[in-house]
Amino acid sequence: MEVVVASNTDEMAARTADIVDAFLRSGPSPVLGLATGASVQPLYRELVRRHREESLSFATARAFLLDEYVGLDAGHPQLYRHVVRTQLTGQVGLPPACLYSPDVHATDLEEECARYDGRVRRARIGLQILGIGRNGHLAFNEPGSAFDSPTRVVRLTETTRADNARFFGNPDEVPRRAMTQGLGTIMEAGHLMVIASGAAKAAPVLKVLRGPIAETVPASILRTHPRVTLVLDAQAADAVMNCDVARMRSATR
Ligand code: GLP
Repeated sequence: MEVVVASNTDEMAARTADIVDAFLRSGPSPVLGLATGASVQPLYRELVRRHREESLSFATARAFLLDEYVGLDAGHPQLYRHVVRTQLTGQVGLPPACLYSPDVHATDLEEECARYDGRVRRARIGLQILGIGRNGHLAFNEPGSAFDSPTRVVRLTETTRADNARFFGNPDEVPRRAMTQGLGTIMEAGHLMVIASGAAKAAPVLKVLRGPIAETVPASILRTHPRVTLVLDAQAADAVMNCDVARMRSATR
């Protein structure tokens, strides 16, 4: 796993945008996987800037969403397909028909999960952008998710609901369920770029780097993928180092 440490938000945005930029220029029809959350926002702002000021083009790209809430009205601004359109795809000229997301309002959700899973796998995502949850989740694959899981409807943990409450007016509004690409689906992407920012991400990052590869820490599956770039900001990296030193001290006592 390649680990990149960025000293500040601007550097993090630039380093991650360089990876997306190179990927978009690498072939005639790039397929991107998109995540949502606070950690990816500096990257998306930088991509929008490069599109406007440096002609970075998304015109031939297709993009697939990682996950989506179940239970919000179709017009709710926190539906990830709206969030990603507002923060990125609607501002960089990615044709709306080329942004794919699971239809969480379908009458048969199980059938929709299978349809979306097949579509993602057939499309062969070249670069998948990911965040990591405080509890080690990837997309909405909460602790205990099977490493070979496909796209499915999941129940969100209270930790995840509490963490995501900052995006909602009222914490009770945070949905209890979501549709998520499975860990098995995500692992099919060619390159996984994982962004972790802030000291609160130190614990899951340390588990990913040093802990056992186990379904109790979904993101530990990253160690089995042939191409992962983990990008940490200074706060996350410092906190990882401090935890690691403390861990080594207690192990040698
Ligand atoms: C949400 C998303 C994940 C994301 C995670 C981290 O739960 N479903 O895909 O990686 O949060 O988000 P943040 O970057 O806001 O900490």
